[in-house]
Amino acid sequence: MAAILNELLITPSILSADFGRLDADIATVMDAGARLVHVDVMDGHFVPNITIGPPVVKAIAPAVHERGGALDVHLMIEHPERYIEAFVDAGSDAITVHQEACVHLHRTLAQIREAGALAGVALNPATPLETLSEARAYVDLVLIMSVDPGFGGQRFIATSLDKLRRARAYLPDVVGIEVDGGVSAANAAELAAAGANLLVAGNSVYGAPDAGDAFRELTAAIGG
Ligand code: DX5
Ligand code: ZN
Repeated sequence: MAAILNELLITPSILSADFGRLDADIATVMDAGARLVHVDVMDGHFVPNITIGPPVVKAIAPAVHERGGALDVHLMIEHPERYIEAFVDAGSDAITVHQEACVHLHRTLAQIREAGALAGVALNPATPLETLSEARAYVDLVLIMSVDPGFGGQRFIATSLDKLRRARAYLPDVVGIEVDGGVSAANAAELAAAGANLLVAGNSVYGAPDAGDAFRELTAAIGG
């Protein structure tokens, strides 16, 4: 399972899907070839928005797992350590916590792995890469936010491109690099060339007239 985090993939974010028909919207992108589905969990504290919790992850997990896919769960919440087991029990395959939300990051990453999921850490746009000088030795994934977290459909922050380049040089090869926010067919190739291998795409997939076609177009943009 760890290997999937090192593949070059477009990772659709269901944040921009129709929450009234999540199973169908997930089936659309998976039938178009998606293998990793990104789930944005927001608590109204760490970020202004509120989205979903473990019951919804549990409800959508079969649609992903039955098709051979994996769930990439991005926790934009305070005290994520309180909810790790619930999200793993609900079917999360990888769980990413924010560096800014974890006082005891080593402990929280270990907790994710002990619960049976792959462990990721996310950095807000203004958080330096160098805050991971120690954690880079014990993470499976680093998520570089290329918008301020909280909402889909925001504009890509241009300095994120250089941050991705520096991240690829700074992190061990086994650590996957995910970019999240403002990814589109226009910048996907550049992001992959900069070192991102997991490209989260919300609005550019589910905001398109046909999410399957949009997924295929993004995948083609990165040579898939
Ligand atoms: C933003 C979320 C993203 C979001 C990206 O806080 O973490 O995963 O879904 O959406 P787009 O691709 O629309 O910028
Ligand atoms: Zn996200």
